[in-house]
Amino acid sequence: MNLLEPIQVGKITLKNRIMFPPMTTGYEERDGSIGTQSFNFYKRLAEGGVAYIVLGDVAPVNTVSPTPKLFHDGQIEAYQKLADALHVYDCKLGIQLFHPEYDVDALAELFRKGDMQAARAKLHHDMLHYIDEVTEEQLNTILEKMGDCVKRAYQAGVDVIEVHGDRLVGSLCSTILNHRNDQYGGVFENRIRFALDVVKTIKEYAPDICIDYKLPVVTVNPDGTLRGKGGLLIEEAVKFAKILEEAGVDMIHVGQANHTGNMNDTIPAMGTTPYSFMASYTKQIKEAVAIPVSAVGRIITPENGEALIENGVCDIIGLGRSLLADPDYVKKLEAGEGTRIRHCMMCNKGCTDSIQNRKFLSCVLNAENGYEYDRVITPATDKKKLLLWVVDQQVWKLPEWPKQKDMMSFYLKKKQL
Ligand SMILES: Cc1cc2nc3c(=O)[nH]c(=O)nc-3n(C[C@H](O)[C@H](O)[C@H](O)COP(=O)(O)O)c2cc1C
Repeated sequence: MNLLEPIQVGKITLKNRIMFPPMTTGYEERDGSIGTQSFNFYKRLAEGGVAYIVLGDVAPVNTVSPTPKLFHDGQIEAYQKLADALHVYDCKLGIQLFHPEYDVDALAELFRKGDMQAARAKLHHDMLHYIDEVTEEQLNTILEKMGDCVKRAYQAGVDVIEVHGDRLVGSLCSTILNHRNDQYGGVFENRIRFALDVVKTIKEYAPDICIDYKLPVVTVNPDGTLRGKGGLLIEEAVKFAKILEEAGVDMIHVGQANHTGNMNDTIPAMGTTPYSFMASYTKQIKEAVAIPVSAVGRIITPENGEALIENGVCDIIGLGRSLLADPDYVKKLEAGEGTRIRHCMMCNKGCTDSIQNRKFLSCVLNAENGYEYDRVITPATDKKKLLLWVVDQQVWKLPEWPKQKDMMSFYLKKKQL
């Protein structure tokens, strides 16, 4: 099975083709450090057999957002502990290096003064105008902070730096969000300038580290409208992928562009987009470069993932919500028990909704998620009969979900736990 074959990425080897893509979890401490909840979550994923885990939205500065951060040396030790724990399972650790699209220092100052009204107004203003207003000097300071962060990650034994090509970087690349007329705006070469500076900075501060680049693509809806904002249209994305390869990037992670677009663009709920909805775009990137390419977005079953690799769409698959639902996905595949995988139904309740409500990931199908090693679900000692009613809307071609009393039909399954 292709999915279980190892693959070389730059100087590192991934033991199989399944990665956990960047995902904000809400598990980190207030200062963004890796605490017990975060550590246990990632360790549990590694134990389940995944080859490569990316920590989503790791900030090199002290932002007000609840994401992981690595902006001072005191945080190195916890990242090192996490890297060591993952390495026990031969799982590689990546951090997704990102910067928000607002003036972090100015906002922090307003928060320090307790002027919440001004802070809110500033955030609102920046979400609309920061990309056009951020100065070259500020961008250079951000690069320095990113460099320091990369150095700390390298010291901690982190294996991969994934550039977050959406957010600040992707917004600068975008023809939709970038209206500048200096050397960072206008023509393609100017819009990708900062993105390339980020890659150069990583190489300067940690020459040996493996670089992954999340390349967000602005896609086209069936009605011709555009989906997503912070990224590039496919023609430019293909061109940029080749430039990234020449710049020394080791791997490309192709995703749906988002920033300030709709959350459902990148994280579609059930029934809103087809499975593997980024496949045709990812394939175009893969055909343009020789470095490994990973795909993400509604890849559910192993057959689904296997077909993507077989058909030359990608080399590696990212399973985000699927691994929240079942962290033992890979272990079950390895044991020939793929049919026992508990599949994500893309309800977005315990993941996206939780994060948007400032809570933490806790998948509705996995009662241990968010409480790894603290809460362990074991078979019941006092066994009871369970009656499970399942109505499959697609099989029965129902126009809408029926009310219970009107049920046209149902499967009745009796299961003994
Ligand atoms: C709760 C949640 C948080 C996410 N956070 C990030 C993030 O920090 N950075 C990022 O690039 N993508 C983020 N994503 C997008 C995922 O990396 C992935 O592209 C998306 O979930 C689609 O993959 P899936 O269908 O396998 O879940 C997030 C997704 C979810 C559900």
